[in-house]
Amino acid sequence: MTGGAGFVGATLVRRLVASGCRVRVLDNLSTGDAAHLAGVDAELVKGDIRDAAALDDALAGMPAVIHLAAAGSVIGSVQDPGTNFEVNVLGTFRVLDAARRAGVGRVVLASTGGALIGDATPPVDERSLPKPISPYGASKLAGEGYAHAFAKTYGVRTVAIRFGNVYGPWCARKRGVVNVFFESIHSGAPLVVYGDGTSSRDYVHVDDIASALQLGLEKDVPGGTVLHAASGVETTVTELADLCRRAAGVPDHPIEYRPKRAGEVGRNFASFDLAHQLLGYAPTVTREVGIPRTWQWFQEEVFRD
Ligand SMILES: NC(=O)c1ccc[n+]([C@@H]2O[C@H](COP(=O)([O-])OP(=O)(O)OC[C@H]3O[C@@H](n4cnc5c(N)ncnc54)[C@H](O)[C@@H]3O)[C@@H](O)[C@H]2O)c1
Repeated sequence: MTGGAGFVGATLVRRLVASGCRVRVLDNLSTGDAAHLAGVDAELVKGDIRDAAALDDALAGMPAVIHLAAAGSVIGSVQDPGTNFEVNVLGTFRVLDAARRAGVGRVVLASTGGALIGDATPPVDERSLPKPISPYGASKLAGEGYAHAFAKTYGVRTVAIRFGNVYGPWCARKRGVVNVFFESIHSGAPLVVYGDGTSSRDYVHVDDIASALQLGLEKDVPGGTVLHAASGVETTVTELADLCRRAAGVPDHPIEYRPKRAGEVGRNFASFDLAHQLLGYAPTVTREVGIPRTWQWFQEEVFRD
């Protein structure tokens, strides 16, 4: 698993190990942390996905690859599109090329719904025309392109899974809106909302994303398949702020509105019908359950000092 020491990886590695898989993680620990895998019976190799030799070593004897490693920030990609390109496009190419050389049976890739498709009328699905409005979205589309091409040209059985906005345990090192809101509440700062609060996202719990990725590994879908794994529910940023404030028991915590930021889509949520049909994927954690549970995790693991 590339990027397995990150937020999504922390849940997914545990799940795979618990189901009897042997897991080797390749991670450069740029945004991830070895502590995310503390006490987990998985092998952690420090290395970079841009390094073909490191990939050859890491993939030796592996029947499948889950490719999570990425420069994962939309805003980061606007500030530094070159690094985003190198990690997400060149890095993904190198992972696919190493998988081809190693004869790996299945490659599951982490992709994204909102940033890749851009401003479209939701719900988006696999037939929506991708028109990325950020370098991050473009880089993920390029990765999907290579995955499809490697499936058709070399028979690498790729499946790209486009996530909604993932939240849940181990997200504390990310700059995602849920943890930023929780940190603001904890420190007494106002919740900062960019735009007028009507922009929306599809918030999906990391347990559901881990299920989708595991199903992508196990189910026999044709190489080159692209699927959306999402909650299917549209949540505006104002609604999310309310969910976070209520979860923390501070329903009147102040909100500060600032101008909308470049590269961010307006409305987004996705249909997961195809993932349901092909993988049997269905989200199980509603936002009403998942947000309070995540606040609880922050209380126990992040804000305890
Ligand atoms: N979190 C979300 O809301 C979300 C939404 C859509 C898609 N995704 C995708 O899911 C995947 C996992 O995201 P995450 O939220 O866990 O992010 P994360 O930043 O927590 O995890 C990424 C991991 O990749 C590692 N990494 C980064 N660059 C690397 C490199 N060059 N070589 C080796 N390792 C490297 C990091 O150290 C980190 O452990 C990414 O591909 C991301 O684009 C995430």
